[in-house]
Amino acid sequence: MATERTLAILKPDCVRKALVGEVLRRIQDAGFTLRALKMMQLTKKEAEGFYAVHEGKPFFDSLTDFMSSGPCVPVVLEKENAIADFRTLIGATDPSEADDGTIRSDFADSIGENIVHGSDSVANGKKEAAYFFPEHEIVANG
Ligand code: RTP
Ligand code: MG
Repeated sequence: MATERTLAILKPDCVRKALVGEVLRRIQDAGFTLRALKMMQLTKKEAEGFYAVHEGKPFFDSLTDFMSSGPCVPVVLEKENAIADFRTLIGATDPSEADDGTIRSDFADSIGENIVHGSDSVANGKKEAAYFFPEHEIVANG
């Protein structure tokens, strides 16, 4: 299996519920290495740019309102098979359908406020990491 990078975002509900430490603990316990991390608040426009693939869908406006509603924590993570393994760790988009013990099953309130984002492909992981972090802010070693 190849080493991959995924871009996670601990979403505004994760920050509001004071779950940043808990979620990072689970991510690190699952074997992911942190390569970059910061806290920031997205503007509505930045949230629209990040989720541009969903433009035109019925949930686009509420999704981008939510994602810009408070601070979030974008994180670049590295691991073998990171894309698929991270999505397994977080669980299904709708927390009521997420497997027991996943981050969304344990902490998310609804499909709209589901605690964490994870990239859905290696190519999107690269694009999404670059959306938040210039190359020199992604730490290569350690
Ligand atoms: P994410 O991108 O945030 O990691 O979530 P995901 O891959 O599991 O789901 P995706 O299909 O990419 O959707 C992005 C976010 O939009 C909201 N959503 N609502 N039917 C709905 O009401 C619906 N579908 C998607 C969710 O908050 C989802 O995380
Ligand atoms: Mg997605």
